[in-house]
Amino acid sequence: MPIRLALIGCGRISRRHVLAMKDLQERGRGDFVVTAVCDANPQAASERADMFEELLGRRPVVYGTHEELLASARVDAADLCLPHGFHHGIAVDCMEAGLHVLCEKPLGITIKACRTMIEAAERTGRVLSTAAPHRRQPGQRTVKWVFDESGLIGRPLSFFHQYRSSAVLPAAAGQADARPNPSQLWGPQAGDSGGPLPEHKRWRRDRLMSGGGPVLDSGFHYCDSLRYFFGEVETVYAVLQSVKSGMPQRFGDAPEDTVFVTLTFKNGVTGSWAWSLAAPGEEAYDVTFYGSRGSLRDTTAAPFSIFHLFQRTPEKLETARLESSDGSVYNMKQLEAMHRASLSEEEEEFLYPGGATDGFAIEIWEFLEVLRGNREAPEIDGREGMRSLALGDAIYESGLTGDVVLVDDVLDGSRSVFQDPIDDHWGLS
Ligand SMILES: NC(=O)c1ccc[n+]([C@@H]2O[C@H](COP(=O)([O-])OP(=O)(O)OC[C@H]3O[C@@H](n4cnc5c(N)ncnc54)[C@H](O)[C@@H]3O)[C@@H](O)[C@H]2O)c1
Repeated sequence: MPIRLALIGCGRISRRHVLAMKDLQERGRGDFVVTAVCDANPQAASERADMFEELLGRRPVVYGTHEELLASARVDAADLCLPHGFHHGIAVDCMEAGLHVLCEKPLGITIKACRTMIEAAERTGRVLSTAAPHRRQPGQRTVKWVFDESGLIGRPLSFFHQYRSSAVLPAAAGQADARPNPSQLWGPQAGDSGGPLPEHKRWRRDRLMSGGGPVLDSGFHYCDSLRYFFGEVETVYAVLQSVKSGMPQRFGDAPEDTVFVTLTFKNGVTGSWAWSLAAPGEEAYDVTFYGSRGSLRDTTAAPFSIFHLFQRTPEKLETARLESSDGSVYNMKQLEAMHRASLSEEEEEFLYPGGATDGFAIEIWEFLEVLRGNREAPEIDGREGMRSLALGDAIYESGLTGDVVLVDDVLDGSRSVFQDPIDDHWGLS
């Protein structure tokens, strides 16, 4: 019998989940069925149900609350695409009701929220997986292969990542919304001129519902990718500011738009992540990873490239490149081909089921395979998702206190100044 899924939260990113399911179906991996959708906004739920009907051939039953869904829908698992503050409560309710859970990043709104989810998974024996597509895509799999297996540039030493643009500053005449970029999520345009903010911006501006600004939201991807490449981070020192007013302010209530972070890893790697969305004048993007015998570099900015490393865009496949100290040079296209050629048939199918390269399709497929008993555990299970969140929260902890912060202290709860008000709000103790 096909696995029966419910989609809970039918906003922006859930669209990508439907397209990913369509992709899986087209690759002959459609052995699942979405029987229910749920959203507090009836229009959003109804539109998503229509989309399922049109693309996957079956209209799920629409619910307005997850409680109604859990009381009457016949489902095995839930795919949660909700504002961060609702992740833990609804995930726990789902698991208590017997459902396995695939939860959008960040796993929980705080470390305590994550622990609540992990404990529920262990108590109920349900699978808990964190939906985070980037490390699962060929770009980052290739980077990992370069360092761990290729021998092309030796062991990782350091990285330097810079991004500077004026995205959150008032746009010049005729330029507003000219291109997709992070300002659409955290920037000032809609709403700041007096109109109401759209829902997807409203909750992101409320720290009690979002858990933080860009560093915690899309930054979760960045933190997860760094951990994937280089292992656990030991210390973080961060300066975060909101400068879009034109006057630098200490990191406070406004979402950060200018960030300087220095990281040390337990294996000796060091790195810096420095970016601003409030830097008028010349734009710049440069991410370079250094190994003991060469470098891997990407200088082509793409939407969200502050957070999404080595994305597989046609341009980056040509321009991102490895340069070895023996003089050899390869672009990402060649490196990806070498990585793919190094895989056995089983490994290729494991990483890229049916040739899929979309991280959303891969994460959903992986989740289904765990439920079927074909895989032991999700790659980013509850604990792994919590560790990636701890890095983001350590950045805030440092930004707020000015201290060098041990990520382990954030993970074990001994440092939580930034998270305390959020935990208090949600009654997490
Ligand atoms: N993987 C990625 O690249 C990526 C990208 C964007 C967002 N996300 C994540 O996806 C999640 C959702 O983000 P989004 O951008 O789709 O937000 P969104 O605001 O567009 O959608 C959230 C939806 O949840 C609904 N909702 C709110 N409370 C609810 C409740 N109690 N019960 C049922 N429905 C409820 C809202 O009505 C809305 O339709 C977040 O965790 C976000 O971080 C992931």
